[in-house]
Amino acid sequence: MKVKLKIKRFNPEKERGSFIQEYEVDVSPDDRLLDALVHVKQYIDGSLVFRKSCAHGICGSDAMRINGKERLACKTLVQDVAEIEGTVVEIEPLSHFTVQRDLAVDQAGFFENYKTVKPFLINDEPVKEKERIQSPEDRKKFDDATNCILCSSCYSACPILDNKTDFLGPAALTQAARFNDDSRDRGFKDRLPVLDSENGVWSCENHFECTKACPRNIKITKLINQTKRRIEEDKD
Ligand code: SF4
Ligand code: FES
Repeated sequence: MKVKLKIKRFNPEKERGSFIQEYEVDVSPDDRLLDALVHVKQYIDGSLVFRKSCAHGICGSDAMRINGKERLACKTLVQDVAEIEGTVVEIEPLSHFTVQRDLAVDQAGFFENYKTVKPFLINDEPVKEKERIQSPEDRKKFDDATNCILCSSCYSACPILDNKTDFLGPAALTQAARFNDDSRDRGFKDRLPVLDSENGVWSCENHFECTKACPRNIKITKLINQTKRRIEEDKD
């Protein structure tokens, strides 16, 4: 099957603005969009820049906008896209990031936001046994959030970030929930100043775009609302 890839390209060292470049690629039925991009880079245009690593939906490095939706290129079958959306595929970098080159974006701010919610277990209490014991039921409470691969798709899809660029964003709030909902953690109060701030959970207006965009199907909006409720309860 032949597909046409229309890729948004930008090289800040050479160009003032972005432009669309088209590539015709022959793909097999089981090729993923990542395979098509690798084919372009290897055989047609070595100057094309994109990130990839695991190629199996684990590392989160190849998130991009494909036909206007955030997706992992390695988890997107070209055939599926072509059958539903046609054989012309538009590919752009994630939104709300500075483009470094072509499909590679600068995620430094995204990871700074991630760090501010203290995404690690906080507990100074002495360990009574060899380790902190947790029941299977308590482990289940934060299972969903552990699936995050920090791909930034939710950050790109969030409409709040169109205007409010200081919003921590859905991924950071998901990581806060991951640890706040862990029965072994005592760090809620440490995370509270950041979460209960103008740029924290209260910026979220329940658009659910992050939840729709997440390739790991994490119920991000639900987790943010859970944090809002916990903050309210903490104030009572
Ligand atoms: S919450 Fe989902 S969309 Fe957001 S960074 Fe994590 S895996 Fe990606
Ligand atoms: S390359 Fe790792 S998630 Fe796609």
